[in-house]
Amino acid sequence: MARTALVTGGTRGIGAAISKTLRDAGFTVAATYAGNDEAAAKFTDETGIKTYKWNVADYDDSKAGIEKVESELGPVEVIVANAGITRDAPFHKMTPDQWQQVIDTNLTGVFNTVHPIWPGMRERGFGRVIVISSINGQKGQFAQANYAATKAGDLGIVKTLAQEGASKGITANAICPGYIATEMVMAVPEKVRDSIVAQIPTGRLGEPEEIARCVAFLAADDAGFINGSTISANGGQFFV
Ligand code: CAA
Repeated sequence: MARTALVTGGTRGIGAAISKTLRDAGFTVAATYAGNDEAAAKFTDETGIKTYKWNVADYDDSKAGIEKVESELGPVEVIVANAGITRDAPFHKMTPDQWQQVIDTNLTGVFNTVHPIWPGMRERGFGRVIVISSINGQKGQFAQANYAATKAGDLGIVKTLAQEGASKGITANAICPGYIATEMVMAVPEKVRDSIVAQIPTGRLGEPEEIARCVAFLAADDAGFINGSTISANGGQFFV
């Protein structure tokens, strides 16, 4: 029987590419979204992928949403924690609210997404936890003290879960995308974006599908020895 994969923020940007790639790889996919019902309905019409609405920043919401997914599609065996937001501002201008929103969604959101699924993965003796971090969690980024902190935090979560899950057949890995052609990157002022592209040896932004293929690689049954790793997919912009 097909394994069920849950992709948070799975109807747009990198998440949408991940949902479609996992569907094509034979998974039963559930994609979550936070706001736009119309866009989600369109996504389901176009892809046949079921969508579920909840706020990853809220633990009870996430737990209830995951219970619904599992009752409709079966136990979640692959979780892709992808949902994320930016609230960019230079540190001297960053408000406590901008800081907190990003922490709640990007970092606590990973806890809220993985924690309810973890006991089932332990019981069944199989699981794939894949967290979408960022190049900016590895190197920091002007105006992203909040975002970079969460993306660096993702790497700590993954390395810990890799150790805790290993004896139970669970792997946990992170992917650090560089600058990918999504709405999030297109929201960066054009002049700043051009200067970023100039720092990418490949000479272009990445495509969402170039991140999705990393997810499919890590989600596979025969990826069981890849655990606690960080895959950088950034066009050569930054090496750890
Ligand atoms: N490095 C160095 N200096 C920078 C800079 C950078 N990357 N970006 C902006 N600056 C400088 C400007 O040149 C300007 O300098 P001066 O004051 O000397 O002219 C100053 O910072 C801008 O200051 P402002 O007070 O005018 O800034 P602002 O309050 O208007 O904020 C900004 C502008 C939010 C920083 C805007 O420039 C921006 O969005 N920058 C991009 C940040 C970024 O890269 N975000 C990544 C988003 S994509 C993503 O997050 C996905 C992923 O995982 C990769």
